[in-house]
Amino acid sequence: MFQFQKKKLLAGAGLCFILLVGVAATTVKDKGPKPNLKVLPKDISHEELEKIMKGFNVSLGVKCNHCHAPAKTDPKKLDFASDEKPEKTTARHMIRMTAKINKKYFNQSGGEDVAAITCITCHNGKVHPESKITLPPPPNR
Ligand code: HEC
Ligand code: HEC
Repeated sequence: MFQFQKKKLLAGAGLCFILLVGVAATTVKDKGPKPNLKVLPKDISHEELEKIMKGFNVSLGVKCNHCHAPAKTDPKKLDFASDEKPEKTTARHMIRMTAKINKKYFNQSGGEDVAAITCITCHNGKVHPESKITLPPPPNR
């Protein structure tokens, strides 16, 4: 399960979090049970979840509403449990992928050590990571 990855994801997210303090206005306000966690541990603490989510914001350069749909009752609020937005589903795949890369290729599957890669490794503050290389122009001689 995802458990093994938790600490490392947190460490990565924690780093982002340090950069973020005082910047993000939105927080995880609802401290109740989180009914719709399918990848992260169901017993995750409020603080841990908040760190991870803020880490996602920084890593992708987005706000919470990139992945979370507006609430039906009050569109000014977000319905965090809703799976309506495809970006949320993609993010679940991404969490699993990142955990798998760390485990399989960096042998990071347990302990307190920092994950070899996190969301920001690829995303670097952008929704769509770079995949094409633009070569510099040849030097003038
Ligand atoms: C890149 C996409 C993404 C961003 C950005 C994001 N989240 Fe999430 N969030 C998710 C995913 C995916 C889950 C479900 C994780 C799972 O299934 O284990 C989730 C779950 C949650 C939950 C638990 C919902 C429940 O009841 O099951 C809360 C609360 C939450 N996010 C708050 C936030 C807040 C607050 C922000 C902004 C600071 C934020 N999220 C930004 C992807 C995102
Ligand atoms: C190994 C590189 C890599 C890592 C690590 C990675 N991603 Fe991605 N991610 C991608 C690529 C490539 C795409 C596709 C971008 C595109 O469609 O242009 C993508 C797409 C996404 C999208 C959909 C973007 C959209 O269109 O809104 C989300 C959401 C996302 N990633 C979230 C995450 C989260 C959250 C993490 C960390 C748990 C993560 N990613 C880690 C490479 C990565």
